[in-house]
Amino acid sequence: MLVSSLSSLLAGRIAERFSAAAPELTFDPQVRRSAHADFQADGVLAAGRALGRNPRELAVAVAAGLAGEPVLAASSVAGPGFINLTFTDRALLTQAAARLADDRLGVPLSDTGRVTVIDYSQPNIAKEMHVGHLRSTIIGDALARVLGHLGGTVVRQNHIGDWGTQFGMLIEYLFGDAVGDEPAGISRLSALYRAARARFEADPAFVERSRRRVVALQAGDPETVTAWRDIVAESTRYFTDVYDRLGVLLEPGDVAGESFYNPMLAGVAEDLLALGVATVSDGAVCVFFDDVRGPDGDPVPLIVRKSDGGYGYAATDLAAVRYRVTDLHADRVLYVVDARQALHFRMVFETARRAGWVPDGVAVEHVRFGLMLGPGGRPFKTRYGGNALFTDLIDEAVAGARKVIDTKNPEVDAGVLAERARQVGIGALKYADLATSRTRDYVYDPARMLSLTGNTSVYLQYAHVRARSILRKAGADGAIDTGLPLEAAERLLILDLDGFADAVEEVGQTLEPHRLCGYLFRLAQSFTAFFERCPVLTAPAPVRENRLALCLLTARTLRAGLELLGIESPDRL
Ligand code: ARG
Repeated sequence: MLVSSLSSLLAGRIAERFSAAAPELTFDPQVRRSAHADFQADGVLAAGRALGRNPRELAVAVAAGLAGEPVLAASSVAGPGFINLTFTDRALLTQAAARLADDRLGVPLSDTGRVTVIDYSQPNIAKEMHVGHLRSTIIGDALARVLGHLGGTVVRQNHIGDWGTQFGMLIEYLFGDAVGDEPAGISRLSALYRAARARFEADPAFVERSRRRVVALQAGDPETVTAWRDIVAESTRYFTDVYDRLGVLLEPGDVAGESFYNPMLAGVAEDLLALGVATVSDGAVCVFFDDVRGPDGDPVPLIVRKSDGGYGYAATDLAAVRYRVTDLHADRVLYVVDARQALHFRMVFETARRAGWVPDGVAVEHVRFGLMLGPGGRPFKTRYGGNALFTDLIDEAVAGARKVIDTKNPEVDAGVLAERARQVGIGALKYADLATSRTRDYVYDPARMLSLTGNTSVYLQYAHVRARSILRKAGADGAIDTGLPLEAAERLLILDLDGFADAVEEVGQTLEPHRLCGYLFRLAQSFTAFFERCPVLTAPAPVRENRLALCLLTARTLRAGLELLGIESPDRL
């Protein structure tokens, strides 16, 4: 049975009491944790203002009504009308026992029945992945995990850049200019790409040949299509390797790249014209918006079809959104893409709405994120700009983690060390990204992300390890005796443990993984305080049992939370 969190239980009780005291108003109790009691409810203040009544008197009436609740040890009113509420020790222990008995740790299946398409990762063929793709991959994957865990149906879509005029140039170069003995792989491809581009910029004859090659590719010329396929396959192998190393959910089957939508583009343009959503302007098929204008005040259109008949990024995204709603039955489509593409998505979504391709009940959202900046706060270029940008970052994180673990515990053998270094290093890379507010830019800082203190995954992983180690030494899990009194540090730990479901739901609603990071960090801090103040293994029998149970619940909650962020939690480090 699903037991709701203590804060939502309180919110429900307060709302009942409030409607008894002031039935004319719908009311948000605003329950939050407090330093003066377990929880504080502030909602009466705003309600008093709205009703033109003295908030303190309202608060006193609500608090008096709550006084009879058997789960509450105290209810009082402070200041202008804050209600302070404290649970009995028994209520807290009963709640902890309920969480322990539940595999889902209280997390409801609140997204059941909803189909969410998440467009994330989206690297480009024949180019290395860059830090923007890293952010998209990490954030998108965490959201896919959270929404899936909340019971939603999640359809992952990797919108790779695998189509476009650059392939004409690349294939032409490959046939004519490339010497054949470089090792296959992404570094060869991206070197080829750079060489092809240089040639393209210097040699008009090559430009003309490349253009003819694009036409051949679009016309399905077998030799050209085979070359294109090989390039896509080579890049995809590299992406798959990266995904495997990162431990993300994306699979080859999740790829629906730009080429996938190519056959739909002509229909998109025709339909938009027929619907009157698009118009022809200077030979191009365009959609205009009142509020999108250039520096000169002229409207800037979304170009669906260029005057030369070619289709670009916008047409592909229009086809994609229609496909996602119509064929994938999305109730919600999320685009995890950096903030600089905000205008593009605004225009695409608005066009699709006008065309009726995204009906009212369907949400489309640009889940934007800020830049990941290099050391020193400058855009990523210098040191990581070369060949193996992505893999450099991963290698550096894993090597750093190896050092941290090795210093703490030099005894482990090489194979185990390598595995743990991977878990800690990848975790640190992901966590540093997820823990900052999504829309903000942040500076990549390998030393800080691997710090043993502060809001890092390493700190969380060590808290988890400490809890597991106590349980191992005890040899038993501990069953809860709800009749025992609690120490202050135990109360705080239980209150934090109980907040897990609310934190996960909050990420589902806001699409902001840093909220779960913040929650897990507070939990690990409370566990550390508990661990310092409340001996577990040496405590007398019934207390020891209860404390072991709290260790187990903490370990399970940390592991479940980290897993939702795509981060592993080893039992030992
Ligand atoms: N491949 C694009 C890039 O690297 C991102 C694609 C984002 N997704 C989309 N549906 N447009 O910038």
